Amino acid sequence: MKFTLRLVVAIWVSVLVVIAGFAVLQVREERARLVTDLERRAVLLGEGLKEAIEPVVGRGSATAVERILKKFGRPRRGIAVYDRFATLLVATPDLKPVLPPSLPEVTEAIGDGAVRQRLTSVGGRPAYVYATPLFRDDKPAGVLAVVLDAAHVDDAEWAVGRQNAIRFLLLALVVSLITLVIVRTTVIQPMAKLSEWTQALRRGTPLPPPEAPDARLFGPLAHEVSSLAKSYYHAQSAAEQEAALRLLGDTVWTEERLKQFVRLRAGERPLVVVSNREPLSHVRRNGRIERHTPASGLVTAMEPVMRACGGVWVAHGSGDADRQMADARGRLGLPEDDPRYTLRRVWLTPEEEAGYYYGFANEGLWPLCHIVHTRPVFRPEDWDHYVGVNRKFAAAVLEEVEGTEAPLVLVQDYHFAMLPGLVKAERPDARVAIFWHIPWPNFEAFGICPWQRELLLGMLGADLIGFHTQYHCNNFLETVERTIEARIDWEHFSVLRGEHETVVKPFPISVAPEFVDEPPRTSREELLRELGVSVEFLGVGVERIDYTKGLPERFRALHWFFERYPEYRERVVFVQLAAPSRSTIPRYQELQREVEDTIREVNQALQTRSWRPIIYLNRHHEHREIWAYYRHADFCMVTSLHDGMNLVAKEFVSVRDDDGGVLILSRFTGAARELRDAVLVNPYDIAETAEAIRAAVEMAPEERAARMARMRRTVREHNIYQWAGLLLSELTRIPMEVAEAKDA
Ligand code: F6P
Repeated sequence: MKFTLRLVVAIWVSVLVVIAGFAVLQVREERARLVTDLERRAVLLGEGLKEAIEPVVGRGSATAVERILKKFGRPRRGIAVYDRFATLLVATPDLKPVLPPSLPEVTEAIGDGAVRQRLTSVGGRPAYVYATPLFRDDKPAGVLAVVLDAAHVDDAEWAVGRQNAIRFLLLALVVSLITLVIVRTTVIQPMAKLSEWTQALRRGTPLPPPEAPDARLFGPLAHEVSSLAKSYYHAQSAAEQEAALRLLGDTVWTEERLKQFVRLRAGERPLVVVSNREPLSHVRRNGRIERHTPASGLVTAMEPVMRACGGVWVAHGSGDADRQMADARGRLGLPEDDPRYTLRRVWLTPEEEAGYYYGFANEGLWPLCHIVHTRPVFRPEDWDHYVGVNRKFAAAVLEEVEGTEAPLVLVQDYHFAMLPGLVKAERPDARVAIFWHIPWPNFEAFGICPWQRELLLGMLGADLIGFHTQYHCNNFLETVERTIEARIDWEHFSVLRGEHETVVKPFPISVAPEFVDEPPRTSREELLRELGVSVEFLGVGVERIDYTKGLPERFRALHWFFERYPEYRERVVFVQLAAPSRSTIPRYQELQREVEDTIREVNQALQTRSWRPIIYLNRHHEHREIWAYYRHADFCMVTSLHDGMNLVAKEFVSVRDDDGGVLILSRFTGAARELRDAVLVNPYDIAETAEAIRAAVEMAPEERAARMARMRRTVREHNIYQWAGLLLSELTRIPMEVAEAKDA
């Protein structure tokens, strides 16, 4: 039976039961009322007549009785008098023809000498009979019977029944109509829209869910369906991609391939990743909790890896609503709508954060490793916090790997140089790698760090140390050679200390081929409209505000470009997306001011009534927002003074499926070693960078497309899945090789 029909039948049955119940009660009440009325009238008449008739009956005068009855008899009100043998003596004319030979009430009244009365039927009609015995000298002399017409009692019952039947029909009709309208508007129509939407999702058209009138009813359903469809769509495209790659004999790493690879190599062992920065932070804004994806190359790279491999990601819970959104152990599943891995948040005190993160890591190690002429600051108390926080993270990691044999631990970055040693000391069976996301300087530069020995020994606790480039590996090995007692195997690029060997290898990090999941397909026109500009050429820069990124140099180069090539004024606009970063550190505050001053100077010097050369968007931008800038920019500028890799360059290339756009790239980035088709610049050389901008806007479309196609191939082939695959492959291979080496 159809849903609506079932609903209507249910409504009708319910209405019927309720109305029938009420009708029965009503009939009973009405009947009781009418019978009481009949009884009252019969008693009054009967007892009144009895006084007049009793002496006459006793005398046996039938004519006198007849006279009295004539006086009191009325239509619908009959009176009859019987003798003591229940033989009819006299009856009113209307009653006489219909009277039966004997009335039970009369016989009974004679029998026991008491009044008998009831609702009965006389002559086939409903009647109320009241029979009262007559006496003479206390001896039974006969019976007086009053017979009142009671047809109206049945009529009244029927009337109540009829009324209720009409009431039932009307009520059932109105309620059914209202229900049908409600069902149609709040269930059937939204369900139809939901089903159209799910069909579109199934076909791979990612539309937003339709507006549901009752969000509480359909919201969770829409949410579940969209997660389901997303997983289905993902699985489908992964399978298609795999099949296509197999046909082509292609060896490109995909999410699926990495997943299978990890399953094969690691089995049931969960992967444990450690980083300072968490992949998602929860922050309070205007009384609501918002989700932030941090502006971090590390997060951009590691998040797809964790989605593919699963496992636990241990990171600092830095958002002010982070505790509220995690369980008592600081754990939560991510992505929140379709969890594939666990984020384990570690809580730090403000003092720990100040000493370990802002102090030692970012005022000490960061400028130490980036050759940008910012003097590192090393404070003993910061060092103590650095070691303390490394211990805290080590404890969290050890807790996560408890009960797992030979767990795989991937430590990320310069925040955790001590962690490999701390973990290995407790769990020698663990396979530990540390990947250093920033450059490693030469041994002289590194040598100014007062705790260089401790840092190196901590790192060498790992089985594998990864850098972006061979050059950084060489710098590291040389630093080790000159600082501590160890044997360097320059042939295999490893460090031997006692029994322990640490392999040092380059793993150039990258991005996922689709670095934004389902990007919002904003058009170039829409983007320019949002920016409030109308120009021929759009340039873009995407950075944290950091002194390694060469921001003031870039703006000076833009100034130079417009000075030198005034024909491009009002035709080119440069948009700088700048995320505030590490803002409590004085050097970063100083830089923030320098960036703002430089932009103001350039704009003031060049702007016209309708044009400003630089648009500065100084706030955090989510990946989805950045996508449109990358996709529609005519050129992207990455002018870092020194950078381990720089993933902005690779993100820009990865979204240019139109083969458009030119990448202007600092030769001092790791990315410059792979993206040879970028226009390479020395960011300190303002004139050279300005020329690169001109080359970018004037580049012939064919050359631009050819360069971009080659770069896209590089990023596609050397993607983040390959990075993780190679690193994990190396890590899981190491123990066997060491054992073989010992046996030999
Ligand atoms: O490689 C350095 C790094 O940790 C990157 O992951 C990222 O780009 C940047 O620094 C993030 O810095 P922070 O986590 O301090 O905001």
